[in-house]
Amino acid sequence: MSHNSFGHLFRVTTFGESHGVALGCVVDGCPPRIALTAADIQRDLDRRRPGQSRFTTQRREPDEVRILSGTFTDVASGHEVTTGTPIALLIENVDQRSKDYSEIKDTYRPGHAAFAYDIKYGITDYRGGGRSSARETAARVAAGAIARKIVPDMNIRGALVQMGPHKIDRSRWDWAEVQNNPFFCPDARQAAFYEEYLDGVRKSGSSVGAVIEVIAEGVPPGLGAPVYGKLDADLAAAMMSINAVKGVEIGAGFAAAEMSGEDNADEMRMGNDGKPRFLSNNAGGILGGISTGQTVVARFAVKPTSSILTPRKSVDRYGREIDVSTKGRHDPCVGIRAVPVGEAMMACVIADHFLRHRGQVGESVTWPFEQPR
Ligand SMILES: Cc1cc2nc3c(=O)[nH]c(=O)nc-3n(C[C@H](O)[C@H](O)[C@H](O)COP(=O)(O)O)c2cc1C
Repeated sequence: MSHNSFGHLFRVTTFGESHGVALGCVVDGCPPRIALTAADIQRDLDRRRPGQSRFTTQRREPDEVRILSGTFTDVASGHEVTTGTPIALLIENVDQRSKDYSEIKDTYRPGHAAFAYDIKYGITDYRGGGRSSARETAARVAAGAIARKIVPDMNIRGALVQMGPHKIDRSRWDWAEVQNNPFFCPDARQAAFYEEYLDGVRKSGSSVGAVIEVIAEGVPPGLGAPVYGKLDADLAAAMMSINAVKGVEIGAGFAAAEMSGEDNADEMRMGNDGKPRFLSNNAGGILGGISTGQTVVARFAVKPTSSILTPRKSVDRYGREIDVSTKGRHDPCVGIRAVPVGEAMMACVIADHFLRHRGQVGESVTWPFEQPR
């Protein structure tokens, strides 16, 4: 299978299957002399790790990362730093229970990838979804932890803003709350409601979808490569490549279609710091495919988990009609664990564009320009 790499100058290749020996990634193009230890990566992996609450799959994976190459001790500081060579990261699979899947090995779970893999490749690793499993997203999160270190003073954060039809109240948004509940939800009151709501969904053997918002603060202006490497286009592709994602918005997104020109265009004034000040951010920090220096805002919709206990109509590999229900361990709302994955994809795309911008343009433009006399 081809196309397991993404990015240009910060290039990530992931490998591994859900129930294989291990999964991981190779990050090529990371600049040298950036401080990096396994602990830096582990912090992010721990936020994605399964089995942390009753609302995520009970698969017990420590997701312990090992750095196999690409770092060395800097003699001057004594710290482990990147060397500029490929960084290989390995995460072993330790809690595979492949027999959970043996009963459904010839069947297609509706909404899952096995049918599509079969008609394309003629073979599919049915154990936990093989390569189509979201186990693969652990490698993305590991790569994202490195990417976060490349752009100075950038801060990327994500939150769950809707579960099923239930949206948060944005006036109650508090970033500190995201760490206080198992949903990465910034609205404490809605998080308490989600607990009860998702318990009901889980007990009934069903599942629900979610909407995740990811923001990047401190993104330098000028990142993005029109016209086929626009920052928003690359972000949309990166978010859409996450398992179960079915929609992506930048800034006001689909709501922009309902706005008037007056309301949608972000008006500008000069700030006291000599930089432009935007009076709103419907563009999500990107104009013409290039970052403006405003916060970059992306939102993505995650479909409900397709592995559910309720029997569903399907067919098997031999063209027979069957009913399928799944016994394995599954998240009732996969959108929850997609939050750190969305953050990682944002970090990888912006790091890649940061290096591409530096490669093509070099020194930043000094703005405002001097007026010709
Ligand atoms: C963090 C995360 C965990 C997931 N866990 C499951 C799961 O336990 N069961 C399942 O059926 N799908 C799960 N998925 C979704 C499937 O991987 C995905 O729906 C499937 O591969 C089909 O691909 P598509 O939905 O992108 O078309 C998960 C997705 C994410 C982002």
